[in-house]
Amino acid sequence: MNNKQNIIVNNLPSCTGGEGGGYIVFATNNQHKLGEIRQILGDSIKVLSLNDIDCNVDIPETGDTLEANALQKAQYVYDHYHIDVFADDTGLEVEALNGAPGVYSARYATVGCAATSSQPKDHDSEANMTRLLHELGENNNRRARFRTVIALIQQGQVHEFEGIVNGQIIRERRGGEGFGYDPIFQPDGYDQTFAELGLDIKNQISHRARATAKLADYLLNK
Ligand code: IMP
Repeated sequence: MNNKQNIIVNNLPSCTGGEGGGYIVFATNNQHKLGEIRQILGDSIKVLSLNDIDCNVDIPETGDTLEANALQKAQYVYDHYHIDVFADDTGLEVEALNGAPGVYSARYATVGCAATSSQPKDHDSEANMTRLLHELGENNNRRARFRTVIALIQQGQVHEFEGIVNGQIIRERRGGEGFGYDPIFQPDGYDQTFAELGLDIKNQISHRARATAKLADYLLNK
């Protein structure tokens, strides 16, 4: 730990294992994800972002599973800051494509393509959806699921939490809300896509909400 990191960490209240409310780091700067977990945990535990601890590196995600990537991000923060931390990783797993795009969901459009200047960028949702619909073609098996893995490192111990939502990939985009693959994913029990259902409903049933609820239950009740 360098001096700056030392100052930041020493100025924080107790970790989740200590007395009092405590704090924990979520290895992300995604405001949507931070808001979601802060809402669930309430005042009981303060959730800090990477910005809050002055961690400005793009933490590598080089694993070939969601579990490996989530743990890699959490481990990086734990190793450099020695504080309780959790990290998440999510993938869309399509049955007819043997689980693809899976861990490559954010950059599916570019997987297996030679790098060119006109190539779609990571997180290009339009290009990712176009590729997925193309790969599925007229296949009638549209079964798919979103899966989120959260890796928690607390006082050096690793814990994992998983959230899954099952559904199907529809044939054309519908809806304007959400992000990523939301316009082509219709969760079981609904006749609208995540992008049509809107955030209120999505946040009650989503993969991430389910994994986050398990994490919150563990942190609040252990
Ligand atoms: P991340 O691990 O949360 O960054 O997610 C990786 C990729 O999965 C994102 O870039 C999106 O393409 C996709 N993804 C994750 N969560 C969702 C979601 O709730 N709806 C649609 N796509 C998602």
